[in-house]
Amino acid sequence: MQRFQDNVIVITGGARGIGKACAERFAAEGGRVAVLDIDEAAAMSTAEALDNGLAIQCDVTDRDSVQGAIEAVLEAWGRVDVLVANAGVYRGAPLPEVSLEDWRLVLAVNLTGVMLSCQAVAPTMMQQAGGSIVIMSSMGGKTSWPATAAYSASKSGELGLMRSVAQELGPHNVNCNAVCLGHADTEMMRAVDVRICEENGWEPGTYLQQLAETNPMKRLGTVEETAALITFLASEEARYINGQAIEIDGGLLMC
Ligand SMILES: NC(=O)c1ccc[n+]([C@@H]2O[C@H](COP(=O)([O-])OP(=O)(O)OC[C@H]3O[C@@H](n4cnc5c(N)ncnc54)[C@H](O)[C@@H]3O)[C@@H](O)[C@H]2O)c1
Repeated sequence: MQRFQDNVIVITGGARGIGKACAERFAAEGGRVAVLDIDEAAAMSTAEALDNGLAIQCDVTDRDSVQGAIEAVLEAWGRVDVLVANAGVYRGAPLPEVSLEDWRLVLAVNLTGVMLSCQAVAPTMMQQAGGSIVIMSSMGGKTSWPATAAYSASKSGELGLMRSVAQELGPHNVNCNAVCLGHADTEMMRAVDVRICEENGWEPGTYLQQLAETNPMKRLGTVEETAALITFLASEEARYINGQAIEIDGGLLMC
């Protein structure tokens, strides 16, 4: 099934992890995929492996950088059908130790970056009278744990932003939804594991193993499963789903 034949897909943070899995899935289903990432070399390597990929160096915290990237996509392909606002960072620390530098970075990438990405594609999608936006939030947008102040605040903020975008762009036949992932094994989660294992004197991998064992499905999620949900939400079949925060977490959070 070629659900995205000749569609133009923009993925922020598309160079690795969940973004890369999405790039591969959209491309496999016929899409032309622009891989936007702050890491230019990684973006190029991911885009080069796709049938119809374009790598664009982009810092989602910088309005000019995001606008320039979308202009480059429009110059290359003339439209934008799907935005996956996925670029994100994680910094965890107990509240008394949260540095202003980390707080600002997490809010800048995860929240401001998503707003700037939506803002940059909105005029084109409105003009096309069609499009789909998927925001990569987190289970941390719906609930919180200790030592996740900045991350949780940013991911909850993404859900409020998502609902506003859904309200505004819905009349233009553009839907906007968020994906709330529990835990998938990516470099981001492995870095969290390293930090928590070091703090507790555990063998590396112990934290990820604990997460898997406490999940109702006894495992972490995969990037492919997450990409499958994102592509569904971006597809025509899901066009009437709008303003929703969809959980994918093995049943960790049931609400
Ligand atoms: N892995 C998980 O378990 C998990 C769980 C819930 C939510 N998420 C969310 O999924 C998204 C992807 O996470 P991942 O696990 O694949 O992480 P990752 O660290 O493997 O990949 C993130 C990508 O974003 C890019 N990036 C970072 N800052 C950027 C910036 N300023 N501008 C452009 N690109 C930037 C990185 O270079 C990287 O390619 C994030 O928003 C994350 O918060 C992940």
